[in-house]
Amino acid sequence: MGNADTAAVRAYHERTKHSVQSVRAGGHFLDWDIMPRPFKVYPELEPMALPPDFTSSTRPALAAIADAGGVGGTGPPLDRTALARLFYFSAGVLRRSTYPGGEIFYRAAACTGALYHVDLYLVCGPLADLDPGVYHFGPHDFALRRLRAGDHRATVVRATGHEPAVAAAPALVLFTTTFWRNSWKYQARAYRHAFWDSGTILANLLALAAAVDLPARVVLGFVDGELDRLLDLDTAREVTLGVVALGREAPPPPPAPPAGPLGLATLPLSAREVDYPAIREAHEASSLVTAEEAAAWHGTPPRPPVPPAAAPVSLAPFAQEAVPESIESVIRRRGSMRNFSAEPLPFDQLSTIMRAVTRGFPADFTGPGAALTDPYLIVNAAEGLASGTYVFDRERDALVPLRAGEFRREAGFLDLGQSLGAAAALDLYWLADLDRALGRFGNRGYRAAQLEAAIEGGKAYLTAYALRLGATGLTFFDDDVTAFFSPHAAGKSVMFLNALGPGGRR
Ligand SMILES: Cc1cc2nc3c(=O)[nH]c(=O)nc-3n(C[C@H](O)[C@H](O)[C@H](O)COP(=O)(O)O)c2cc1C
Repeated sequence: MGNADTAAVRAYHERTKHSVQSVRAGGHFLDWDIMPRPFKVYPELEPMALPPDFTSSTRPALAAIADAGGVGGTGPPLDRTALARLFYFSAGVLRRSTYPGGEIFYRAAACTGALYHVDLYLVCGPLADLDPGVYHFGPHDFALRRLRAGDHRATVVRATGHEPAVAAAPALVLFTTTFWRNSWKYQARAYRHAFWDSGTILANLLALAAAVDLPARVVLGFVDGELDRLLDLDTAREVTLGVVALGREAPPPPPAPPAGPLGLATLPLSAREVDYPAIREAHEASSLVTAEEAAAWHGTPPRPPVPPAAAPVSLAPFAQEAVPESIESVIRRRGSMRNFSAEPLPFDQLSTIMRAVTRGFPADFTGPGAALTDPYLIVNAAEGLASGTYVFDRERDALVPLRAGEFRREAGFLDLGQSLGAAAALDLYWLADLDRALGRFGNRGYRAAQLEAAIEGGKAYLTAYALRLGATGLTFFDDDVTAFFSPHAAGKSVMFLNALGPGGRR
């Protein structure tokens, strides 16, 4: 057992694949009586309201989205206002709508089923107007609640095996998933969604940080139990997925105070919950147990050389200053497109999407030249590019043609028979060679590959809206997608799908 025995997540991935047969045989129905509450609420803790009067950044949105983490300085001081902006535009409630059964609180980042099962926590040292502590961010009332007083960053530093960005950060954002809040609808596949729906949040968070030159780094290598204990999670239901280190050049944190169980009450999510053991097993199998294991886990594995392809199509130059709009404004306009138009996608916009999405992002498991996934494209309608399928060559910033032709019908099948993949001008799939990811990172490589794809998928959402296009995440028939892109994709596994293009009504 343990992270090195990769049979466990391979089994999880296999058993949560969608196929025509599995969907037909599924028989799962939504029990609306036990639909989970989309918020974690601590009813006995005093809310500390976050200031709603943050200002927008001035850096052009595309430059912020595409930023690979080259920020050189320390960024603006982290105070409540700076944190409020980060929380609001990554996980805040931006819109509400009512439906016959209740109300949906739409958040800044897209989420499967609008179920919002990812929570953000803050672990910080002394900040200008915030005492050191461990805080939970409550999107429902836009407030922090303090779970623990004192500076607990040293616990996170130890848990990550002294990851340098974590050790030098004045503030750390920890993100978690509460399984039931997504498995209510998606059953065991919800564990994949934990990374998909964290990824869209992190794409926003990284762009927001880059827009104000605030260093931010995603860290997935940590001792799971230590962070779960720090947040006092009931790990049969909620687990820590990762850490984002914010800022740099903070003096080393003092030794952390003891952090025993808190026993804090939280409002029940529903009258009854259903347990999906496959989720817990995949998480357990990909957990790290010692700080040494965490320290050895970090690293960006170089990609195997890709043989030069015949007639690759080079992308148009990246005009990242072309859109002066701020990232905050783009996030306010983002929403999942329900109605693509038949208009073609101009090649310069397709190029901008591919460049902005694939520049890389700061993390302990990936980076420029070390990606775990490859983008595959179905081009349904582009101006200046033949319809057909392509794979993106990350080393050469070029599209390698796979098959020419019209594939709208296939695209409309592969996305679980939804019409969106057929209607969109472009379908962007991320496929991973799991042998490589698991070979380097053990079972936890599965988390890394899913999250990398999802962060890039989240960047695709943002880029599309920056360009006044539409986008939507979609689910898919796993093996059919791989077969469709084969022989090139043979042996690879699908991690994420985003459909993009000129849109009609949302
Ligand atoms: C990874 C991912 C997969 C999604 N899959 C689907 C899908 O299969 N079908 C669909 O209609 N919407 C899908 N969505 C869109 C969500 O339903 C949408 O994000 C959610 O309802 C919130 O709405 P908003 O994105 O407009 O804020 C997906 C979103 C994400 C992030």
